[in-house]
Amino acid sequence: MTDSTPAAKDTAAPPTSPPPATQAATDTAAPPASPPPATAGGSTAADAPGSPAADAPAPAPAPAPAGTGHLEADPNLLDEEPNNDADSSISALGASYTTSVMSSIYKFREENGRTYHAYKADESTYFMPNDERETERLDLQHHLSIRMLDNRLYVCPAGKDKPLKRVLDCGTGTGIWAIDFAEEHPDTAVVGVDLSPIQPNFVPPNVEFFVDDLEETWTYHTKFDFIYARFLTGSIRNWAKLARQAFENLNPGGYFEVCDPLSPIKSDDGTLKEDSAVLKWNNLLLEGSRKLGASLDSALQYEQHLIDAGFQNVTKVEYKWPINGWPSDAKYKEVGEWNLVNMTQALQALSLMLFTNVLGWSVVEVETLLAQVRKDLKNRATHAYWPIYVVYGQKPE
Ligand SMILES: C[S@@+](CC[C@H](N)C(=O)[O-])C[C@H]1O[C@@H](n2cnc3c(N)ncnc32)[C@H](O)[C@@H]1O
Repeated sequence: MTDSTPAAKDTAAPPTSPPPATQAATDTAAPPASPPPATAGGSTAADAPGSPAADAPAPAPAPAPAGTGHLEADPNLLDEEPNNDADSSISALGASYTTSVMSSIYKFREENGRTYHAYKADESTYFMPNDERETERLDLQHHLSIRMLDNRLYVCPAGKDKPLKRVLDCGTGTGIWAIDFAEEHPDTAVVGVDLSPIQPNFVPPNVEFFVDDLEETWTYHTKFDFIYARFLTGSIRNWAKLARQAFENLNPGGYFEVCDPLSPIKSDDGTLKEDSAVLKWNNLLLEGSRKLGASLDSALQYEQHLIDAGFQNVTKVEYKWPINGWPSDAKYKEVGEWNLVNMTQALQALSLMLFTNVLGWSVVEVETLLAQVRKDLKNRATHAYWPIYVVYGQKPE
């Protein structure tokens, strides 16, 4: 992996900006009438990685939020019919992207009506599409994710004691985390890498994107102060190597933080039934990901990988994303409402390639199962959630 692979420059910027990540946290439940807008466009083209290395101290983050404890179900929902509003919320998603075909990395593979990354297509395990439907969902998922963190972009104390000169966002997707981070830290050079050139064209001057494979050997010339990796479960075969490369590419005192959901979903009160379609689907997905070599329960090993790589102060914080608005707590009800939109949108993206190519199902069989799963996801009598693990560690000084 190098600093000089082709930058993603040719997707047009979506029309509006997302709410800044720094905005004040509100704990009022606001079910999503329409999802948040897609990735921000900012100013013009980015500088070369490493160039704006600033000495001004970065704003210190607030104390790390606690993980999610026990969630109480909302008693007003016990007799409620499944919420059918999710689909109409999804149809409200809309951002228009135009794509210029510049090179082979833009010649996305097409399968069952979805497109997939072209770069390293035969080697990578990444099984999700990279089309507009998916990029809109990734942006929605970003907002859901920072809502869970009380509108913070990360959990670890990076930037608290020392300025962050260079930050790497691994598997940046639409680049929305990197762009928000760059806007929050205008003196930090932010680099985002991904297999797909799906990042917007107009971004803050201190962020740059590259197409690259994280599983290759990293050959950065300048080390980072913070390396971030979010929602890469199912993408990476060798997490131990990724943790080692992160360690090697950090300055002393630098932080590495990983954030991922864990399959299968759970409930703490037995309301998620063993024979439910949603649990069957999630277990099959997990089986498919294991066959592919990038298991969707990789988060279970993150702590150990970080310790083995040499990180100190390794910390795990566990959060919960409810499958819908079943909790009584206002924040988690809101997170659940957003997650229902997210998951309804993600179902096909997560399932098509794994179920057809890896598990040998037909598209009709997959869609039939997904119809049942959608029903389960809306059922507020099922108090299920995705465990979300955030694990971070510090390179010794
Ligand atoms: C589920 S998305 C998460 C995107 C982003 N991190 C976020 O939180 O919004 C996973 C991203 O990782 C990228 N990816 C998967 N395997 C990769 C690899 N080996 N090297 C670089 N990027 C990879 C995919 O192309 C995709 O954009």
